[in-house]
This record gives sequence, C-alpha cells and structure tokens, in this order.
Amino acid sequence: MSVKKIAVLVSGRGSNLQTIIDNIENGSINGKIEVVISSKRNAYALKRAANHDIEGIYIGKENYPDVDSRNDKLIEVLKKREIDLIVLAGYMSILNKRFVEIFKNKIINIHPSLIPSFCGKGYYGSRVHKAVLDYGVKLTGATVHFVDEGTDTGPVILQKTVEVDFNDTVETLSKKVLKIEHELLPLGVKLFCEDRLHVEGRKVKISMS
Ligand code: GRF
Repeated sequence: MSVKKIAVLVSGRGSNLQTIIDNIENGSINGKIEVVISSKRNAYALKRAANHDIEGIYIGKENYPDVDSRNDKLIEVLKKREIDLIVLAGYMSILNKRFVEIFKNKIINIHPSLIPSFCGKGYYGSRVHKAVLDYGVKLTGATVHFVDEGTDTGPVILQKTVEVDFNDTVETLSKKVLKIEHELLPLGVKLFCEDRLHVEGRKVKISMS
C-alpha cells in the first residue's frame, strides 16, 4: 500500500497535529505530512511543523482576504502536492462548496462533542464545552467525521465518550475531551491511510486490517 500524502489544516496550538506527527514517526500511521497550512500567521502549529521539517504555509485573511480566493489558493497548494487526505485539526476558517466537492470523502475533522449534539454553526472551541455544561448532560466526547458541505454534518467515523462531572468547568472538561481527541484523530488518520474507511450513505464502515 502506498504511503498516503497528508495535509493538515490548523489555526492554533496544534496539539492534534502533534499527535499525528508522533504517530507517523512511531510507525503507527502509514502516511506522510506533506504540508501544514495555517489560517493564522502566528499559530504555534506552524512551529510544530517546522520542528519536524514539515513545510508550513500561511493562507489567511491577510494574504487572501475573501473566502473564495482563499479556497482557490488552498486547492492549488493541495493539488500541486497530490494530497490524498486533508485533516482539519482545529481549523477555524471556511471551506467553500468547490473545495468540499473537489476533495469529497478526503477531508476529516475532529469535533469536541458527540455529534449531532453541541455542533454546527457557532459551536467551536470552549463554546462547545460551555454549552455542554449549561445543558447539564452527563456525557460528552469527541467525534471524527468526514467533512461535507454543512457544518459538522458529514458521516461519522469515530466517537468516544467522557463523563461530565458535577464540578467540571470549561477548563477541566476541555482537558478531558482533548485527551480523547488525541486518541481518536490519529486513529481516524491511521484507518484512512490503510484504506479501511468506506462511506455508504451516511454510514462509515470500518474494515478489518
Ligand atoms: C480541538 O479541541 C478541536 O477539537 C477543535 O479545536 C481544538 C484544536 O486544538 N476543533 P489543537 O490546536 O489541536 O491543540
């Protein structure tokens, strides 16, 4: 099986990016990160890429002010590198219809709740955990899913729960959820790179290795 070419799109600290890098370096993921693209110029994720000699590129509002020009540039960069898999790891910018169509079933995202709860427009970062606490649910978690044209609406690949304790705060809860994100996202990437994910309508079948 050929080594999959991966692009990771980021906007922040890049702890999820780091778990993918680590799992490639320890031989668990049969892939190579060809490029890390950040929507924020000073994202720490770009530093993490540089630390591992991975190309890092800034494509954001300063150099590509409108959404379509930004997406056109992203598409150009990804096509040029013949990318097989695009991983959204805390990516906070909009992907347009053209982008999602071109890379259908090749984009995966990690969301810090159990989709379809606490997801969609306006649910990102600490807002997700605040909404979970405000609602008073006893379980939350993380979801890895394929990206379609909607917000957090694509087929679910993997989910895992964490318990919400009475005294949890946004900080303690995000820490607990981040821990399982760091298990789920590299696992999703690994399964993709082994051609083990099969989308059938809304469902994703995971085949045995
Ligand atoms: C994670 O909580 C992820 O679920 C969300 O953004 C955060 C990114 O964290 N989409 P990091 O940049 O990977 O550390």
